[in-house]
Order: sequence, then structure tokens, then C-alpha cells
Amino acid sequence: MGKLDGKVAVITGGTTGMALAGAKLFVDEGAHVFITGRRQEALDEAVKQIGRNVTGVQGDAADLDDLDRLYDTVKREKGSLDVLWASAGGGEPAPLGEITEAQFDTWFGLNARGTLFTVQKALPLFNDGGSILMTGSNASLGAFPGWSVYAGSKAVQQAWARIWLNELKDRRIRVNVLTPGQVATAKQEELFDEATKRQFESLIPRGQMGRPDEIATAALFLASDDSSYVNGMELVADGGTTAL
Ligand SMILES: NC(=O)c1ccc[n+]([C@@H]2O[C@H](COP(=O)([O-])OP(=O)(O)OC[C@H]3O[C@@H](n4cnc5c(N)ncnc54)[C@H](OP(=O)(O)O)[C@@H]3O)[C@@H](O)[C@H]2O)c1
Repeated sequence: MGKLDGKVAVITGGTTGMALAGAKLFVDEGAHVFITGRRQEALDEAVKQIGRNVTGVQGDAADLDDLDRLYDTVKREKGSLDVLWASAGGGEPAPLGEITEAQFDTWFGLNARGTLFTVQKALPLFNDGGSILMTGSNASLGAFPGWSVYAGSKAVQQAWARIWLNELKDRRIRVNVLTPGQVATAKQEELFDEATKRQFESLIPRGQMGRPDEIATAALFLASDDSSYVNGMELVADGGTTAL
């Protein structure tokens, strides 16, 4: 028996990296998964890789019309929803003094505003007893120079999880934050050269970045009844980087 048998899950930004690893695991555990991403080609490839019990819905998690289209598709195909993993997010380094309005608006627009509306627009479809998880970042726990916009736009989730679980307690919907540290994904490859990646790894007790599958298993824990008594929490999966 799978941990998500018969459940319907939405994962935003699920076409590569840790969310794709999670989508595969959720399907292996019995869920039907809706994944999103902006690039149709990457979405098609992810749907092909997952192979079964998956629907790809092209869209930008920062765009409210795209979110409406996503949930219209979920409603039409499945009628309701049990698990939401709001994973779409991102950032770029910009030290204080050099931060532009465009950078602030882009990353707060996706990580904060986009995440809030991803959750809010899902609520009419949510079954009682469901689970919401949002991907944070250990950048909001540490003091990493250059990352204040990104860290700030993710830090909001910790407050939201506590408030929303209180607002949703009559429906027994749990809300948690999954907070990765450095994880080897395509985004990492795009953003950082080898020297920067080695510098990040020097901050991780085991000296190696996380793998997408190590975040997927943490997501499965929060999505499933394995975490039925865990609510309003931040699960930090960063190899101990910010515990030091
Ligand atoms: N990688 C890390 O080390 C790390 C560490 C801490 C936290 N995080 C967080 O973990 C999450 C996933 O990170 P990742 O590195 O796996 O991401 P990623 O490789 O940048 O993105 C994963 C997928 O999300 C999609 N995506 C990106 N922006 C989107 C948007 N606005 N709307 C819909 N889909 C979008 C991308 O497809 P398209 O480009 O086609 O849209 C991509 O396939 C993010 O929230 C990130 O902030 C990452």
C-alpha cells in the first residue's frame, strides 16, 4: 500500500530538480500528480519521465490567471485536491546597495505573492485533512551575504504556515514549510561556477550538497499521514548547515 494511495497532489515548478523527484515519488506512492512549469518542452519531458498518473499544466506560479487555469484543470479532471506542494521559486544574489526594484518585485512576486495565491486559490478544491507544504530556503535562516531579497521572500512562509493552519484547523488541513539547503539541481548549475559550489559545500557538515531525492522523501513525509501530528513546522533539510 502506498503512502498517498488515491490522493490528488499539485506540485508547482515540478518539471526538474527536487520537485520532479518528489512528483515521481508521490506517483510511486499512489498519488495522481499535477505538475506545472513555464517551459512547455520541459513540462512534456517531465510528464514523459513520470510516465503515469500525471497531468502537466503549463503556467507561471507568479501569474494569477495561470493559477486559475491550473485549478480549473484539477477541478475538471479530479474534482478535488489532497496535497499541495508550492515549490516554484527562485532567486539571484544581490548585495544591499545594489538591489534593483525589478529584482525585489520578481522574487517577492514569485516566492511570496505567488506562493500565497497558489495556496489561496487551491482552498476551494481542498479536501478536509489535506496537507500543504511550501518550499522555503535555509537562506532565510542563515546570514548569507547577497541573499537578502531571496531570504526575505522565503521567510514569510514560516509566519504564514502558523497563521494558515490556525485559519484552516476546522478543515484539518496542515501547513508546513520544507526548507532545503544547497541541493544539486539545474538551477544550481545555471547560477554558480565550480568554485562557488565548492564554497557552499564547505559549509555543509558532510561536504556534499543534497540530492533532489533527499528532498523528495522529506516532502513525502510532510505530504502523507506519516506527519499527521506535524503542523506549522519548518522541516530543515540542509545537512546541518544552519544548525552549526
Ligand atoms: N536548489 C537549491 O539549492 C535550493 C535551495 C533552497 C531552496 N530552493 C528552492 O527550491 C525550489 C526548487 O528549486 P530548484 O533549484 O529545484 O528549482 P529550479 O531548477 O529553478 O526549478 C524547478 C522547476 O520549477 C520551474 N519553475 C521555475 N520558476 C517557475 C515559475 N515561476 N512558475 C512555475 N514553474 C517554475 C522550472 O521550470 P520553468 O523554468 O520551465 O518554469 C523548473 O523546471 C525553489 O523554490 C527554490 O527557491 C532551492
